[in-house]
Amino acid sequence: MEKTVQLIYEGKTYEFPLITGSEGEKAIDIGSLRKQTGLVTLDPGYANTGSCLSAITFMDGEKGILRYRGIPIEELAEKSSFVETSFLLINGHLPSREELKNFSVMLNDQSLVHEDMKVFFQNFPRASHPMGTLSSMVTALRSFYPELQNVEEELNMTVTRLLSKVRTMATMSYKFTRGHTIVYPRPDLSYCANFLNMMFNSPVKPYVIDDDVKKALEVFWILHADHEQNCSTSTVRMVGSGQANFYASISAGMSALWGPLHGGANQAVIEMLAQLHREKGSVKQIVARAKDKNDPFRLMGFGHRVYKTYDPRAKIIKVLGDKLLDKLAVSDPLLDLAVELEAVALSDDYFIDHNLYPNVDFYSGIVLRAIGIPTNMFTVMFAIGRLPGWIAQWKEGFDDPKGKLNRPRQIYTGNNEMHYIPIDQR
Ligand code: ACO
Repeated sequence: MEKTVQLIYEGKTYEFPLITGSEGEKAIDIGSLRKQTGLVTLDPGYANTGSCLSAITFMDGEKGILRYRGIPIEELAEKSSFVETSFLLINGHLPSREELKNFSVMLNDQSLVHEDMKVFFQNFPRASHPMGTLSSMVTALRSFYPELQNVEEELNMTVTRLLSKVRTMATMSYKFTRGHTIVYPRPDLSYCANFLNMMFNSPVKPYVIDDDVKKALEVFWILHADHEQNCSTSTVRMVGSGQANFYASISAGMSALWGPLHGGANQAVIEMLAQLHREKGSVKQIVARAKDKNDPFRLMGFGHRVYKTYDPRAKIIKVLGDKLLDKLAVSDPLLDLAVELEAVALSDDYFIDHNLYPNVDFYSGIVLRAIGIPTNMFTVMFAIGRLPGWIAQWKEGFDDPKGKLNRPRQIYTGNNEMHYIPIDQR
């Protein structure tokens, strides 16, 4: 018998189905709430609202668990590659040797960007933020590749195209802001190695790809590859639900990611540390500011909507960062400040009571900085990593025969009906 939840309202009892997810999480299906009772729900920030059924990513914020298609993030970070993890997320299973080979060949074949797109990059003001450039370019891809997405083969081509080109476009935007010649993708390099080469190689200073740096980037992207219904992913699904084209939906997600409370936090962490260093402030001072209710300042890189314990990705990236800094023998005053800040915040009662732990963005800036990625490219790095997740989530929505236009309601708090007053009588 189907389990139900009862709601008693104005003396009448209403029943709603109780949904149980595959990991035992329970939800009330309120699909008929308004029809039955005339009521809607109010949940600002959606902290209690499930927006869809999804079989892609499982996370448990209390236990610090993250799994893609059932596989723990720790195993993927240790054993998988970013390309393989992307396949897993998008297709729902680990690829066979042959599937992985075909996927890699497609990624290689699609890696060039239409030469006509170069003029766009050239004409963005040099000081443009690369996130703005990248999201505009992703939308522009629709004009260059306007194929329909209603055939499975075409859909595969479209998603692979974006996955491949995004890394070329990201490095192009960086090269153009510096006024340097762009570096084309090479067929003999892997996805991550190609990115590093396009980003850092130069005619006057050939870039030597270090295996540990490549591995660090691989893990960084795997850790960011999906995170269920976060702000940017919900945006992708929201825009996709209106049947906007694939590129427009992903580009909308990129714009959502840009914000400092979301993906922009990795840049904000380094900027916060740099300011602290410049102004010769103390870690204790900024921790005190973060705790002050009258000060809107927040400690960037701390806290998470879902994780109320250590972010499992933060654990992995912290170890990775420590190893990389040792190997590259990096000495950086901002990194010293980060270590001090982590220690102070983790032992502070306010942070303990509020379950505020360092999140993945706290450490990812440190790893990216050690690799040599400029600060304003940090969120772009996150966006490249999140792309397979956005694609998988968009596809899940696209393939859902019961898929609906996403359209929340509101509780109106404005004026009651009033009448227009001609301008000379106001
Ligand atoms: N510094 C100081 N206090 C904080 C912080 C922080 N970083 N984060 C949360 N708090 C406090 C709030 O002031 C609030 O305190 P109160 O209950 O005493 O009023 C309490 O913790 C709960 O905060 P909310 O804003 O309700 O929590 P929410 O789940 O909405 O916020 C968020 C999550 C936005 C990530 C928040 O922790 C934050 O702003 N962190 C800093 C930005 C950041 O690092 N973002 C990256 C998140 S990870 C990602 O998106 C990839």
